[in-house]
Amino acid sequence: MTTPTSPIPSQPAVPVRKVRKAVLPAAGLGTRFLPATKAQPKEMLNVVDKPQIQYVVEECVASGIEHIIIVTGRGKSAIEDHFDHAPSLERFLEEKGKHAEAEMVRRISDMVQVSYTRQKEPLGLGHAVLVAKDLVGDEPFAVLLGDVLIPGENPATKQLIDVYEATGVGAIAVEEVPKDRTHLYGIVDGESAPQPPFGARLLRIRDLVEKPKPENAPSNLAITGRYVLPPAIFDCLARTKPGAGNEIQLTDGMRILAQEQGLWAYIYDGISYDAGDKLGFLKATVELALQNKELNEAFRAYLKTLKL
Ligand code: G1P
Repeated sequence: MTTPTSPIPSQPAVPVRKVRKAVLPAAGLGTRFLPATKAQPKEMLNVVDKPQIQYVVEECVASGIEHIIIVTGRGKSAIEDHFDHAPSLERFLEEKGKHAEAEMVRRISDMVQVSYTRQKEPLGLGHAVLVAKDLVGDEPFAVLLGDVLIPGENPATKQLIDVYEATGVGAIAVEEVPKDRTHLYGIVDGESAPQPPFGARLLRIRDLVEKPKPENAPSNLAITGRYVLPPAIFDCLARTKPGAGNEIQLTDGMRILAQEQGLWAYIYDGISYDAGDKLGFLKATVELALQNKELNEAFRAYLKTLKL
């Protein structure tokens, strides 16, 4: 049964604040990648030529985000080091005449302002977002999950920001998944609500379910791991009881938000790579290597030599 949702106006009632901040939850232990993650954060696992989390930070920058808040935990200091200045490495590279490499290293730390806060207990994704409340303050913000990579010229986060800034209502990225995989995702019960310039990509969310079995899934539209939410989500999360896996789920917090303020599902334009498990990680690596200008030709030729 679905609960009635509040109507979403086609124009924002009050001027909408610009989306300047993003929260990147990165406190998970990465148990699916042991032993690779025994002594390094899963967010630092390399995909082709850079750590996973750098793809996500670059998506933020390409979407106009000015301040990133990374929610970390014990054993995650390599993430902070990666986005910090590395004076001795830069000096070493300059002295060796490796100016391009020195510039690349510098660029990583100069890209964007990054703040860190810690989730002290693994109480779930919703709880991790709630931990960022004080750093976000009273403004809308994006959430990007680090194990979902969505490369491309038209960042998914920017598409959601456009929806939020045009309507004043939160928006989450969704995509179709095979029905037998619904138990791996948050699933949306949505109603088509086309409006220019977003057209049929826009759906009004009636309800959301975290990781339903295929027979209980209201659709095959899965939450992809990109969200733009109003600050009211924090109050919703504070009222959210533990759900699937006995964790405080972001999906359950958004259920309350959808009922009280409305929420869009947006069928974003792009392709996501789920690098959250070993097979997905491998697929992401192969496909991103095929898209990499430097490696594309040689890698493609190599793949063709494989006797499968
Ligand atoms: C999380 C969310 C889920 C979403 C998924 C996308 O689950 O809880 O709603 O569909 O990310 O990857 P996780 O994969 O962390 O278990």
